[in-house]
Amino acid sequence: MSTIGKSPVDRSGWEMKRRLLFVCLGNICRSPAAEEIFRCKAAAEGLSWKYEVDSAGTYGGHAGDLPDERMRRSARKRGYELLSRSRLVRSDDFDRFDMILAMDDANYERLCRLAPTVEDVNKVYRLIDFARRTDYTYIPDPYYEGIEGFERVLDLLEDACEGLLDRLESE
Ligand code: 4NP
Repeated sequence: MSTIGKSPVDRSGWEMKRRLLFVCLGNICRSPAAEEIFRCKAAAEGLSWKYEVDSAGTYGGHAGDLPDERMRRSARKRGYELLSRSRLVRSDDFDRFDMILAMDDANYERLCRLAPTVEDVNKVYRLIDFARRTDYTYIPDPYYEGIEGFERVLDLLEDACEGLLDRLESE
């Protein structure tokens, strides 16, 4: 298995935090939920000190907004309190983060085009590739769906975030 999101080490050799950015379109449904789910799963394993997580969107129309109320309600029922504010992804995020995790192909392709260098393109991943209990090949946009769409997204995100954390911790 290849090394992913290389573990950064400072000049004295101490391992630094891994910095993960979750990205969707609006940054009000999928990626804020992914951010909080990953944060909670790391905390449950006593690993908060190792990870810095954030989220952003490839479309800035909801900048400054809290996550969508439907997603907040569904997430709250599972114990996740979504309080982040939407923001647009920026090219300097490629300097700040070690891994940039896209929810679907459109986000993935947009991020690859935004990456300032070829090395930066290698920081872009599809979050679904870390899921272990599904045949889905992307995290579907729930914005125009009913409540079941939001529940499906949360199921996929819990699966993928667990898989991502296990993968990072097994390296
Ligand atoms: P997200 O969902 O990308 O998971 O945050 C969406 C949010 C807003 C819109 C589309 C998708 N929108 O068209 O405004």
